[in-house]
Amino acid sequence: MQETQDTIFADIPELKWVESREEGSPRGIKSYVLRTSYLRTFQLEAIKKYYPIYGLTFQEEKISFKDIFGNDKPVIIEIGFGMGTSTERIAKERSEYNYLGIEVFLSGFSKLMDQVGKQGLANVRLMRFDAVQVLDSMIVDGSVAGFHVFFPDPWPKKKQQKRRLIQAPLARLLMEKLKEGGYIYCVTDWEEYASQMLSVFSETEGLENPYGGFCPPLSWRPTTKFEQKGLAQNNPINEVWVEKRSFKK
Ligand SMILES: C[S@@+](CC[C@H](N)C(=O)[O-])C[C@H]1O[C@@H](n2cnc3c(N)ncnc32)[C@H](O)[C@@H]1O
Repeated sequence: MQETQDTIFADIPELKWVESREEGSPRGIKSYVLRTSYLRTFQLEAIKKYYPIYGLTFQEEKISFKDIFGNDKPVIIEIGFGMGTSTERIAKERSEYNYLGIEVFLSGFSKLMDQVGKQGLANVRLMRFDAVQVLDSMIVDGSVAGFHVFFPDPWPKKKQQKRRLIQAPLARLLMEKLKEGGYIYCVTDWEEYASQMLSVFSETEGLENPYGGFCPPLSWRPTTKFEQKGLAQNNPINEVWVEKRSFKK
């Protein structure tokens, strides 16, 4: 059986805050489009059962990763995890890190919540909100070990390109949130967006590209559905890895 997202919004109203903000304020440029999600019973149950344990709610105050995860492991933030396939695999296989996954797509959010809850992945927390606002409001400068941005929406039409996530303002924000030596890892199957990523990061003061160009595929990143679609259309997969420079005194 399927229900619309309204069923879960009645129980957990903060999950609707992304929509409420859109309704209540003049529309800024967003990197996503909100669509109604239809949720299966297992997704509804996963949110009810696991949101209190693994969910984080948007707030206008900075958070402490130590309080949230209960340890000092370095924290990776993933922006736009989609259905969460990569997040789940990486969190299990690279458990020396904590992961904060941020996604607005409720169906994907609840699917990953189900996996995380069932497997008891203690190093994962999930948020349903606009990642840009989360970074701005909740994340302390110099506190993040890495960012993952896998297959961000390419917004291919010229008129839509202002919606792309990887642009100068976000690159600066990511740089500010990173610890020294922390990384940003982006992957895309949209060639021209890949070049944009390289140039945006190269123009961001404080970031450096140890590869000088695209980086070779990293063995620990699993293939996602989006990637498979891209490969089926013979789109090249380009990977970009940059690091926040260490400032030695
Ligand atoms: C093309 S999908 C890729 C999903 C996944 N990373 C993958 O590789 O399969 C991009 C995702 O980013 C999400 N997204 C875009 N902008 C976002 C934002 N500002 N905050 C949170 N999620 C966002 C969209 O909802 C969408 O699910």
